[in-house]
Amino acid sequence: MNFIDLAKKRYSVRNYESILVEKEKLNTILEAGRIAPSAANYEPNHFLIVNKEDGFKKLSLSADTHGGSLAIIICADKNRAWVRPYDNHSMVDIDATIATDHMMMCAESLGLQTCWITYFNPEILRESFNIPANLIPVNILVIGYSADKTALSKDRHSETRKAISEIVTYDSF
Ligand SMILES: Cc1cc2nc3c(=O)[nH]c(=O)nc-3n(C[C@H](O)[C@H](O)[C@H](O)COP(=O)(O)O)c2cc1C
Repeated sequence: MNFIDLAKKRYSVRNYESILVEKEKLNTILEAGRIAPSAANYEPNHFLIVNKEDGFKKLSLSADTHGGSLAIIICADKNRAWVRPYDNHSMVDIDATIATDHMMMCAESLGLQTCWITYFNPEILRESFNIPANLIPVNILVIGYSADKTALSKDRHSETRKAISEIVTYDSF
């Protein structure tokens, strides 16, 4: 499947079967995260895997994981990420987010479904998993097998996304 077809097929799933994600698939997803680019190749990311019942109990204190059987908490080291000198803007969130997107699309390519979560309580998340102070938990990627009876249409983006003409400007504003 080409990339556009894969990207159009993907949607956020918030209802999962209680089927575990296979270890080989998890390893492939992690490889997709590992090879993601980062600013200046500083590689600030660290992936915390939650795939056991007690881990999900802890995770449910800070976020709704919609019944997924695997969650990856994508953290990035604020002391390691590249900082743009002109305005001191850190790339920490961007680096974590590129890896999250790589892993989300990789999961989709493996026949899995995902939900990207940022609506979590960072303090509780930090305490629950002893996340070191230098690591920022940026995203949670919930992964699993959808329990939805029917998949959303690949053609839905004509209604659910803005038109190209609304988001693209050539030459200058
Ligand atoms: C940065 C980001 C944060 C998101 N946070 C959440 C979240 O906390 N909870 C949730 O249910 N969905 C979350 N989503 C999923 C979006 O709501 C969803 O991608 C968007 O509505 C488009 O729908 P689609 O993914 O089905 O195409 C997030 C997505 C992104 C990219």
